Amino acid sequence: HHCILQGAPLDCGKTRRGCIMGPDALRTAGLAEALSSLGHRVTDIGNIAPAPFTDAPHPKLHRLSETIAWTHALADATETAFDQGLPITMGGDHALAAGTVLGAMRHAARQERPLFVLWLDAHSDFHTLESTDSGNLHGTPMGYVTGRSAFPDWPALPAPLPYENIAMIGLRSVDPAEREALQDTAITRVDMREIDETGIARPLGAFLDRVTAANGMLHVSLDVDFLDPAVAPAVGTTVPGGATVREGHLVMEMINDSGLMTSLDLVELNPFMDERGRTAELLVDLAASAMGRNVFDRPTRAF
Ligand code: ARG
Ligand code: MN
Ligand code: MN
Ligand code: MN
Repeated sequence: HHCILQGAPLDCGKTRRGCIMGPDALRTAGLAEALSSLGHRVTDIGNIAPAPFTDAPHPKLHRLSETIAWTHALADATETAFDQGLPITMGGDHALAAGTVLGAMRHAARQERPLFVLWLDAHSDFHTLESTDSGNLHGTPMGYVTGRSAFPDWPALPAPLPYENIAMIGLRSVDPAEREALQDTAITRVDMREIDETGIARPLGAFLDRVTAANGMLHVSLDVDFLDPAVAPAVGTTVPGGATVREGHLVMEMINDSGLMTSLDLVELNPFMDERGRTAELLVDLAASAMGRNVFDRPTRAF
């Protein structure tokens, strides 16, 4: 593969600051070197910047115009990066996924292939601009890309991302309004209880099989808080009881075995809260697993 690393130092999706340093922490932890050592060509195109915006404060939504400006810029940058290779976006908070998923949607539309999204997160980030209580826009990207309500002044979607094409894995903090809305959708929702009961491989494998059957493209969005805060402390929205290091690697190895991943987000890393870089290093290791690092190759198989 040709991996296109793009920094998205977007910090406007919530009030706690620090994700602005995420891209440089991932660089410092050796993301490019880890991918090159696996035989990939790697180009770090540097950091994306938001389109110009006027800072018009909104009574409820935190840094709305800035988030819209980032969404435009990241959708355009991601769509362009697909022409070179496999876009890997180094965040930045999860508000950036509005832009990266939109860019992937545009690219998939041009390829006439369906786009699937694997959302690895404690949260569903499925709010609309009306339903969010916090006003933090990192809680809204899945509400935006699925077109479940209007996002005025945000870039238009080529078509809404179908609910059937989404799997959210790792859920353990879903707001009441999100829970109610999710129940009316065909989004695959895998909470920590299901992972405890059946293991993570079974629901993930079933989803990957569906992507394969549809000849789909696969966007993977990895939020640091998918992982347990004991192993990944560098995040503002910690929720206890998350995925283990081993579950994280298994997910990434299965993604690699599937050969399906066409774009990747690494989001919500807040280096200000890290412990000697361990979360940044774990993200680099997980990205390496998703791009082929393993102990032994496995024969190709259906899950
Ligand atoms: N549901 C909460 C909210 O809307 C938390 C969202 C957390 N999202 C995230 N990307 N960490 O404020
Ligand atoms: Mn635009
Ligand atoms: Mn998230
Ligand atoms: Mn989260």
